[in-house]
Amino acid sequence: MEVITTVADFRGATRSVERPMSLTPTMGALHEGHISLIQRAQEENQTSVVSIFVNPAQFGPSEDFGRYPREMEHDLNLLHGTGVDFIFAPSTVEMYPEGFKTHIEVEQISEKMEGSYRPNHFRGVATIVCKLLSIIRPDRLYLGQKDAQQNLVIKRLNNDLNLGVEIVVCPTVREPDGLALSSRNQYLNPEERKAATVLHRALLLAEESGRTNPSDIKRDMIALIESEPLARIDYVSIVDADSLDKLGEFDGHALVALAVYIGDTRLIDNVLI
Ligand code: PAF
Repeated sequence: MEVITTVADFRGATRSVERPMSLTPTMGALHEGHISLIQRAQEENQTSVVSIFVNPAQFGPSEDFGRYPREMEHDLNLLHGTGVDFIFAPSTVEMYPEGFKTHIEVEQISEKMEGSYRPNHFRGVATIVCKLLSIIRPDRLYLGQKDAQQNLVIKRLNNDLNLGVEIVVCPTVREPDGLALSSRNQYLNPEERKAATVLHRALLLAEESGRTNPSDIKRDMIALIESEPLARIDYVSIVDADSLDKLGEFDGHALVALAVYIGDTRLIDNVLI
């Protein structure tokens, strides 16, 4: 496992690697969810790369960029066990040198759900993912289903700019009580950690509901979440899983997604139905 911090060194080290080559992009603070992506990437590719970069451009001014967990030593220890070939862990100035002026805007899909609460978030995600793809030049990109909207933004970017990467979306990994694994779960105190199961409970309610009208399902989900005193809803959406357009009837390919604050911690989750 080779840890590389500059673009020039990365290009030099990977010029003649065996392909296909995978990229699993992360912001570090790795957990079993990341490891499941990395293991799948390992199984399906000759060479595997993990990037670790806490991308300032995808955080809003009042968001948690400053306190986002940075745990390089822990991450490298965890990655040692996976057999990954290269870690690309650049500095902020390596990715955004002085004079940096180019940003990628994926219209429409970026403006819904997460985008309406986090205005420049997907601009930051699309820009950094485009840069990572251009530096690393992987054949396959491994992403987790928990970031459903991010995945659609990246797929659109990949198609629109003819980047030619195969995108592999892997299932969300959950704690035994249903909470989706997330680096932000470590912000939760024990009481909040218990309350956080309400996200998954609300998604189960949607999955198991016999109702076909999205407004009815949404109402039931909101009532359940609001019964949890530590929870505050940003959004609960039942939308077409490809376009994120609102659904009239609950049939076919629906994405049920939500963003909920538990105390000061904003969590997202979703299920495909
Ligand atoms: O999902 C994440 O961890 C980040 O948004 C990503 C894709 C690594 C871009 O910074």
